[in-house]
Amino acid sequence: MSFPKRTIYCGELRSSHAGQEVVLNGWVARVRDLGGVIFMDVRDHSGVSQTLIRPAEQPELACTIRGLTPESVIWVRGTVQLRENPNPALPTGQVEVVIAELGLLNPALLPPFPISDEIALTEEVRLRYRYLDLRRPRMQRYLRLRHQVYQLIHRYFDRHGFVEIETPMLTRSTPEGARDFLVPSRLHPGRFYALPQSPQLFKQLLMIAGFDRYVQIVKCFRDEDLRADRQPEFTQIDLEMSFVSREDILSLTEGLFAELWSEVLTVELPTPFPRLTYREAMTRYGSDKPDLRYGLELQTLTDIFAETELGIFRKAVAEGHTIAGLRLEGGAAYSRKELEDLAETVRPHGLPGLIWLKYDSSGWQSPVIKHISESERDALRQRLQLQEGDLALLAAAPWEPCYSALGALRRKLADQLDLISKNNVSYRMLWVVDFPLVEYSEAERRYVARHHPFTAPIEEDLPLLDTAPERVRAQAYDLVLNGEEICGGSIRIHTAELQQKVFSILGLTTEQVQQKFGFLLEALRYGAPPHGGIAMGLDRIIMLMAGAESLRDVIAFPKTTSGLSLVDGAPASVDPEQLEELGICVRMPGQLS
Ligand code: AMO
Repeated sequence: MSFPKRTIYCGELRSSHAGQEVVLNGWVARVRDLGGVIFMDVRDHSGVSQTLIRPAEQPELACTIRGLTPESVIWVRGTVQLRENPNPALPTGQVEVVIAELGLLNPALLPPFPISDEIALTEEVRLRYRYLDLRRPRMQRYLRLRHQVYQLIHRYFDRHGFVEIETPMLTRSTPEGARDFLVPSRLHPGRFYALPQSPQLFKQLLMIAGFDRYVQIVKCFRDEDLRADRQPEFTQIDLEMSFVSREDILSLTEGLFAELWSEVLTVELPTPFPRLTYREAMTRYGSDKPDLRYGLELQTLTDIFAETELGIFRKAVAEGHTIAGLRLEGGAAYSRKELEDLAETVRPHGLPGLIWLKYDSSGWQSPVIKHISESERDALRQRLQLQEGDLALLAAAPWEPCYSALGALRRKLADQLDLISKNNVSYRMLWVVDFPLVEYSEAERRYVARHHPFTAPIEEDLPLLDTAPERVRAQAYDLVLNGEEICGGSIRIHTAELQQKVFSILGLTTEQVQQKFGFLLEALRYGAPPHGGIAMGLDRIIMLMAGAESLRDVIAFPKTTSGLSLVDGAPASVDPEQLEELGICVRMPGQLS
């Protein structure tokens, strides 16, 4: 099909073009027929331009325009003129194009929704007609921002001596804590590839191969239960470096974020980013990914109640549990119902509820106040810095659930009190370091790796590996932005002996180790340099940079929360011949074998 090619993009027209002849290629955004004049907005990716004709002068063209459906594809030739009534809200609002000629390149079906940022749509409609959803200016902006980020990442790592290498998509499974997506092998019936949860082992092999600095923007696949901040298929900026310490990796990462924010958002991020140990993050914020945009810090109170009369606290202290709490400024006005609502937040963490104490001009008010001594009250007031009119919320439980529950309470209060200003966007970066190496899984009745099994322990904790593995800290670090974990990494184990030891702490038998990780142990014996790295969650980073509400907004063709791709209907059943060829027989859940 031949047609006049554009001479300018719709969004580029300015008053300086007045008098020029132009050709636009694009979509019909809107037609307004005022009788004596017909206005037509034409859109392409760059924006919208107003065009017009006078039916009295061009009756045939008027007829064509009146017959155009929105979103039809057209070309327009005409002359730019200054508008009588400029529209200051539009970059092109000073001018309009008087149409001389127009051609219809492809008439469109009536779209299921208008192409506009102002329209609220269900996720289902958006994802089913994703190609129309992506035509909306906001979505165009998000994906173009993503493109800018890719370009900067490539430049940054190239400048720092990194080599970009692709690792395979058909792999054997790497344990990153989620389920694998499996791909059956036709040539080896009964055997399966796994789509990579991350390129973890391959990047370590690349260090052993002597590449020194590797980077890749890479798709990863995890079959997990989905949430707003997770996708089954997502993208990491994955990197690994040899002969480095934790500091090298942290400062390289900080450099990248500072540059991204400065160049893409024109925001200067102060570096170095603050750091908290895992223990500090938990005891001060009740989370390993705290949002630092608001206060509501937690305080540990166990020592205050060491000798208390209050039954539940006395029991907690005797059992070695923790008592902690937070101050809610002006919270003394909370009603019973509101306090009960707050208590609901801690129940999913296994706590029966919260102890509340109001402190105001008439003194203390609390269901338990008569069991709390004067000196405990004074100490509590000082520790929480209570002022008249404040509320103290206290919890008692084992260490982890106690702080996690208060962390959930802190988030709920921030939400309820609107502590995160939507108008005044701020970016609070934070490194969380010194995570525990392993944690005990009651469900699996064994220790499991907190990050992954290849993470090196902190050297001074090595003696604890045999006696108290749960107390060993890892050389692992996460980068947190506004309460979202955006990066995770570690210094790796680089000797076969230590790797084997960690595998055995994780309850893997010699056969299992040999079968799953024999190749890694062997490779470690052929001159593995000390190495470490990090992976950055690109989708999350873009979401936060764009101020988007969901990961789905910054991925061109994302999955729904139930893992469906609505635009092409994946996952779908396949032909019986395909299954036959793969030697696969499908048994539906609940079906008898
Ligand atoms: P980790 O599992 O911490 O580390 O992942 C790194 C980052 O990837 C992002 N991320 C996700 N983003 C969207 N959807 C998901 N389902 C999802 N899962 C993870 C997060 C996270 O911080 N191999 C190690 C890295 C290393 O040790 O170098 C790894 O994958 O932002």
